[in-house]
Amino acid sequence: MTKVDEKDLCAMERAHIDSKERLVTLSCTVNGEAISEDIDPTMLLLHFLRDRLKLFGTKEACGEGECGACTIVMDGEAVNSCLVLAIEAQGSEITTVEGLSRDGELSILQQEFINGDALQCGFCTPGFLMSARALLDRNPDPSDDDIIEGLSGNLCRCTGYRQIFEAVKRAAKREREELSRS
Ligand code: FES
Ligand code: FES
Repeated sequence: MTKVDEKDLCAMERAHIDSKERLVTLSCTVNGEAISEDIDPTMLLLHFLRDRLKLFGTKEACGEGECGACTIVMDGEAVNSCLVLAIEAQGSEITTVEGLSRDGELSILQQEFINGDALQCGFCTPGFLMSARALLDRNPDPSDDDIIEGLSGNLCRCTGYRQIFEAVKRAAKREREELSRS
């Protein structure tokens, strides 16, 4: 194991304290609401959402970009919030799983996860939903391969992915039908 000498440790500690003294203002939109908060510039977006905004639907699991449990949608892209500094969200539009429902009614995507038994545990499901949301927003008529690719960053070690795949497919169809009626 590499040995960190005491001088380096002191420098690291000082940098951390300094960063806390230099707060920066983050302004963005989260689930349709304008937010402006003073934050430590080293704070992760995941921690900003959970600890500051109390949006606990976004989960922390691996913490290193491997599992997708922390996925949110930022400016239309599915993003691992454990890999992004909160300040990188400056001016952006963020949707978390809490932002999928409207006026207490679950979105079509959420309904199809329920209808098709695609709900897994509370750790992986929000991430799957958010990756699917980003996919359907940029591609309302995805091919099977598009769906597989769109969900490829999300892991569940407990299941096959068939029901999740089918739920996204059905949601895409229902959303297209809804759009054509409006
Ligand atoms: S917690 Fe972010 S990818 Fe696993
Ligand atoms: S990780 Fe959530 S059910 Fe497998």
